Amino acid sequence: MSDAESPESSPRHIRVEIAEAICTIRFDRPEKKNALTTAMYADVVAALRAALVDDDVRVVRFIGTPGLFTAGNDLGDFMSRPPADAEAPVFQLIAMLPDYAKPIVAAVDGPAIGLGTTMLLHCDLVVATARARLQMPFIKLGLVPEAASSLLLPSLAGLQRASEWLLLGDAFTGADAHSAGLVNRLVAPEDLESESLALCRALAARPPEALRQSKALLRAPLTAAIRDTMQREGAIFLERLRSPEALEAFTAFFSRPRT
Ligand code: COA
Repeated sequence: MSDAESPESSPRHIRVEIAEAICTIRFDRPEKKNALTTAMYADVVAALRAALVDDDVRVVRFIGTPGLFTAGNDLGDFMSRPPADAEAPVFQLIAMLPDYAKPIVAAVDGPAIGLGTTMLLHCDLVVATARARLQMPFIKLGLVPEAASSLLLPSLAGLQRASEWLLLGDAFTGADAHSAGLVNRLVAPEDLESESLALCRALAARPPEALRQSKALLRAPLTAAIRDTMQREGAIFLERLRSPEALEAFTAFFSRPRT
């Protein structure tokens, strides 16, 4: 049984810690570059749901392991048991992000691929290192953009830059993401933990109800369009996952030459 299939493997791969009113959700599967399995998505969804109703939690922080945010969806999972519908944990997670009531901070170092980049569009504050390596390789994989990135990325970074990042699908740095407005703060790798924690503490110190209402006001104008885009993207994404182009790309990843 592979890691992706083992139900017991999941708790080791998503670590949830609550301290100082901050719920830290850590991607912790470094041997696979923190690639996200179905079980890991389910654990993240459960952690987000629990944090939402926990009065002791005021802020959520996403972070990975040193030098790694996440390599995105586990490509083995995409091949062996692709999500079938909107109930799949990956789509549940994507659906939760746009109007999540508590503020979310992301701390990004190293690879932040696929959802590792698109989820940042739904975070309230993003801290990254200059060596962070963001990438949305959907087209290279025979897929289409997800998580409303086809709507949010052009509005944030401009159509030309969004077209380059989505249509070519090449990696770009944390510094590029910072200059495009996708990242709030660039920090040294050794400061990522402490700087992201400092931002979480600052948010946690704000009056929570005013913070919740302000976040909702900031996000409300786009919510309907985001939902609509997610639905359109999701329907095509599910089809594309089973396309010959996608299967060829997934197979090529696992048979790539190793150095
Ligand atoms: N799904 C499944 N396994 C993955 C993975 C993914 N998305 N990303 C990395 N891994 C695994 C590799 O298969 C390898 O496993 P192995 O040691 O058992 O062979 C291990 O993680 C290390 O990856 P490797 O490619 O050797 O490391 P690298 O430093 O050369 O490259 C990445 C790192 C992240 C740039 C590269 O692994 C990559 O491009 N991954 C795929 C990213 C992707 O397309 N994600 C899907 C987005 S929708």
